[in-house]
Amino acid sequence: MGLYTRFLLPKIVDVTCRTKPYMRQRAKVVPSALGCVLEVGFGSGLNLPFYDKTKVRHVWALDPSGELWALAEERVRGAGFPVEFLKASAEEIPLPTGARTPSW
Ligand SMILES: C[S@@+](CC[C@H](N)C(=O)[O-])C[C@H]1O[C@@H](n2cnc3c(N)ncnc32)[C@H](O)[C@@H]1O
Repeated sequence: MGLYTRFLLPKIVDVTCRTKPYMRQRAKVVPSALGCVLEVGFGSGLNLPFYDKTKVRHVWALDPSGELWALAEERVRGAGFPVEFLKASAEEIPLPTGARTPSW
C-alpha cells in the first residue's frame, strides 16, 4: 500500500465527510437505525454520534481500511454501545447469513 493510500487518503476522507451537507444528512437519517446495525463503509465513524443510544444495541463497522478505523477511535469510545470493527469489503461480509445479534 502506498503512502498516499495509507496516510493521506484516510485524512482526506475524514475531512471531506465532516462537511456540513453530509453532517446534516446524517442527522436526518442515522437516528432511525435500531437494534444491531451493519454499517457498510464505516469510514472514520462519523455516523456514531447520531445513533440513538436508546435504540441501538451494537454496530458492526465494516470497512477495508484499518487507517480509517484508527481515526474513529475516539468516536468509538464515546459511542455508548459496542462497535465491532470488521476489516473487510462489502463483497465478502464476514457475518453468517441472517446474523441479527453479535457473537458475544
Ligand atoms: C466516502 S467514505 C464514507 C465513510 C462513512 N460512511 C461516512 O459517511 O463518513 C467511503 C467508505 O467506504 C469504504 N469502502 C470502499 N470500498 C469498500 C468496499 N468494497 N466495502 C466496504 N467499504 C468500502 C472506504 O474505505 C470509506 O471508508
